[in-house]
Amino acid sequence: MRVAIVGGTGTFGRALAIRLREAGDEVVVGSRDAARAAERASQLGVAGDANDAAVRGADIAVLAVQADAALSTAGELAAAIGTTPLLCVAAELEFSKDGVRPSHESRSLAERVADVVAAPVAAGLHTLAAANLAAVQPDEDALVCGDDARAKELALELAGRLVSGRALDAGPLASARALEGLTAVIVNVNKRYRAHAGVRVTGLP
Ligand SMILES: NC(=O)c1ccc[n+]([C@@H]2O[C@H](COP(=O)([O-])OP(=O)(O)OC[C@H]3O[C@@H](n4cnc5c(N)ncnc54)[C@H](OP(=O)(O)O)[C@@H]3O)[C@@H](O)[C@H]2O)c1
Repeated sequence: MRVAIVGGTGTFGRALAIRLREAGDEVVVGSRDAARAAERASQLGVAGDANDAAVRGADIAVLAVQADAALSTAGELAAAIGTTPLLCVAAELEFSKDGVRPSHESRSLAERVADVVAAPVAAGLHTLAAANLAAVQPDEDALVCGDDARAKELALELAGRLVSGRALDAGPLASARALEGLTAVIVNVNKRYRAHAGVRVTGLP
């Protein structure tokens, strides 16, 4: 599978690139700066290009930029993305002295991203810590949701190569609000227990 990672120069994008390269996928790391993409890509042993060039010809694009840039980046890249399925991994978080909170927005970031692109959008991977992913295939499950069957299937396929647990279908894109909120839960758990926590869903056949 040819996977474009928009913002693939970042912490999560680099970890994704490592795992997908190991799994045999063709990875293109994207950046706002083509030179930075090329430099990071050569360190990772994958391809690198400007974000718009990276997404062209991809089977799936992962939107792995900083959360506060996800919506504007998706909008700017809408023409280049076209109808290529887009996997949104971002979660908006609010930091306070009492801990991390999910965003107050009533709709998930992924649903708002879906408003600005023609591409089908899936959301997922929120519970995978970059630190775990960069080291080995984490012994965790990965949750993915989406309304478009093909986009969700591709995202599940990709997720299944990242973890040694299972890639699980968490339902429609509306579930992204819960998955994005789970990021805040995990960050708080990590802070409290000084860990890089992940998720395992039990009771499945
Ligand atoms: N870190 C984790 O463990 C983790 C886990 C699950 C999900 N996520 C999600 O993954 C996403 C990336 O997280 P991260 O920790 O990798 O973040 P990061 O390292 O801070 O940033 C990722 C990339 O975003 C791009 N970027 C930054 N500001 C931008 C802007 N204004 N416009 C366009 N691109 C911009 C940068 O790429 P260039 O400067 O090269 O363009 C940067 O390398 C977030 O949305 C986060 O919620 C993270």
